[in-house]
Parts: sequence; C-alpha cells; structure tokens
Amino acid sequence: MSDSVIERLASARIVPVVEILDANRGVELARTLADAGLPLMEVTLRTPAALNAIRAIASEVPGFLVGAGTLLDPGSVAAAITAGAHFGVSPGFTPSLSRAAGDGGLPFIPGAVTASEILSATESGHRHVKFFPAEQSGGASAIASLSAPFAALGIRFMPTGGIRPANLNAYLALSSVFAVGGTWIATRDQIDQGRFDDIGAAARLAVATVAAGRDA
Ligand code: 3PG
Repeated sequence: MSDSVIERLASARIVPVVEILDANRGVELARTLADAGLPLMEVTLRTPAALNAIRAIASEVPGFLVGAGTLLDPGSVAAAITAGAHFGVSPGFTPSLSRAAGDGGLPFIPGAVTASEILSATESGHRHVKFFPAEQSGGASAIASLSAPFAALGIRFMPTGGIRPANLNAYLALSSVFAVGGTWIATRDQIDQGRFDDIGAAARLAVATVAAGRDA
C-alpha cells in the first residue's frame, strides 16, 4: 500500500463516494470538491460512465486523488488501473483481487468487517481496510471493539455506509479510523442534475464538522 495515498486519505478525513451517470460531470464534480477542501473521491464502478469519469479526472484535474470503488473482480481492478485510478476500494476481500491490485501497483483498500475477514486481508499484507456497511455492522462501537485485538498489527479502518454529519465524528474520534467515506456529500441525483452548489455546500459542511470535532 502506498503510504502517500493513505496519508492523503487520512489527511482529508472524509472520502466522498460517488456514482456518476454522465462522465462529463466528473471533472466539474472534482473541481467543486477540491474547492470545498476535499481534493479526493472514490468513483464507484456501478455505472457504465465510471471509468471514463475517472480517466477524465485523472488527466484534467491535477493534484486531485481519484479512486475506483466497487472493485469486485480482477478485471475491474485492471480497468481501474488503465483508466488512471490512484487507488482502489472494494466492499470485500479476496486474494485474487488483492493480487491484481498489487501486480498492477494500485494502492488497494479491501473491505473487512469481521475478525476473520480482517485476518485474511492481513495475510495479503493489508493494514488498511474499508469497514462496510459501517452503521449496519455495529458502527463505531464495533470498530472500537475490533480495534483492540488488531492494534498490534496496526489495522486501521475506513468506515462507509450510513455515515452522515451527525455521526462522522463518532468514527473519526477512534484512533484506528483513518478516514470515513460516504455518498451524502455528492449524491447520484445531485451530480446528475449538476447541482454543484449543493455539493460544494455539503462538502464545506463536512469539512467544518470534522474541524469542530477535532477542536472539541
Ligand atoms: C459505499 O459504497 O461505500 C456505500 O454505498 C456508502 O454508503 P452510504 O450511501 O450510506 O454513504
């Protein structure tokens, strides 16, 4: 795992997770998020436009960190690499996914919510995992409990699923959480309808919420 990608995720604290229906929206979305203080996002490969959006953002928005999410098989890992994704995320973990990312030099964050899944990921060298779906899997208290036995291995979590301004600081208060992700900042409809003012406002509110939590 590239330390610099993890450092950038950890420094942003929040990773917008987005679903893009029209690839032409990607660049403006990236610029809107960057202007609001979030120069990064995970584009889920749930739409046919996702790879073209990643390609455009990676080439047209310098300094912006764009990841590919919903990586479900080695083929989608390869497609993400070809499109120029800077990192990859999966809701789960398999050795072949991990190998495809490693062979292609793609920093990769697999999903793991149980002790056994976390251990499997560590066997492939991972120390950073996505905890999805976070709220439904026990939320911040589940992560706190899981963190204790895995502290010696240095496991750190990126929860997503059900995270909103009201609960994000409960996650970020845990030292084992390096960032949180979610779709609330830029929803599929907001992106598709070009509601970039709303997206910018949600991103700024999220950044301010994290700052307030840090100062509390
Ligand atoms: C993901 O892929 O990480 C989730 O869909 C995010 O969940 P959310 O929509 O509840 O933020």
